[in-house]
Amino acid sequence: MASAIRIDGKAKAAELSEKIKEETAALAGNHGIKPGLAVVIIGEDPASQVYVRNKKRTADACGFHSIQHSLPADVSQRDVLDLVASLNEDKAIHGILVQLPLPDHLDEHQITQSIAPSKDVDGFHYINIGKLTAGDTADAFVPCTPAGCMLMIEDHLGADLSGLSAVVIGRSNIVGKPMASLLLARNATVTITHSRTKDLPAVVRGADIVVAAVGRPNMVGGDWIKPGAVVIDVGINRVETEVDGETKAKLIGDVNYDEASEVAKAITPVPGGVGPMTITMLMANTLRSAKLAAGLVD
Ligand code: GUN
Repeated sequence: MASAIRIDGKAKAAELSEKIKEETAALAGNHGIKPGLAVVIIGEDPASQVYVRNKKRTADACGFHSIQHSLPADVSQRDVLDLVASLNEDKAIHGILVQLPLPDHLDEHQITQSIAPSKDVDGFHYINIGKLTAGDTADAFVPCTPAGCMLMIEDHLGADLSGLSAVVIGRSNIVGKPMASLLLARNATVTITHSRTKDLPAVVRGADIVVAAVGRPNMVGGDWIKPGAVVIDVGINRVETEVDGETKAKLIGDVNYDEASEVAKAITPVPGGVGPMTITMLMANTLRSAKLAAGLVD
């Protein structure tokens, strides 16, 4: 019998999207401004195609001006940089996102750092990373996945995490490191763990908050979880399962949901947890960027 609260990221994202839609309509009505989001996708990676389609659909639903640039897998570094430079100059665009991963011949670092920090709605530019790391979370564009995780954590534990221990599993620049900065800014005592961590289950067992972002299906077992912990599962792993003799693809997280939900206080499912929140935070960052550009944010 599962006892944990199932954190419904889809419902929370829908609620937030409604607010974003209303604010977007007000911005258009009162100031004639439409938030503009440009998404750049390079190559044919199937998972990236799905993510980008969802981002465009959500941006359209929010009432944004949304454009997509699909570039061939063999596009040159110069052409990508030129496109980003033109988007940096485009007054109708407030957010620029270059979908990762990039084909191997492209220099990801140079491309992400060429995006104007004021349009970096992914929060990958060093200016935004620096602000977040310095604790200036109000002024930074915060990467969308950790920002969404934080809102869900807040719902269950409040805004001040003083006295609580948080363990982040994974040290990526997209999730692990910014997640740790956000948790620290809320006064949690934070440990970042990774593949070289000694006795990971024992470290995780001490956590009141667990954020798993490693990309290993069902890695975190129920016996890793401290009773009453809040568990956020960022993993989206595609696995093959047998259903009625047929092989089907299924998405599962980094946490063994059935086991962990016996022990945790609250836990995000996969799918339907972190994923929908990530896209909504991208919309929130783009709306904020549009307001900042118009001088409508203090
Ligand atoms: N690929 C997987 N997640 C992300 C993300 O948050 N932003 C970008 N640009 N690419 C990604």
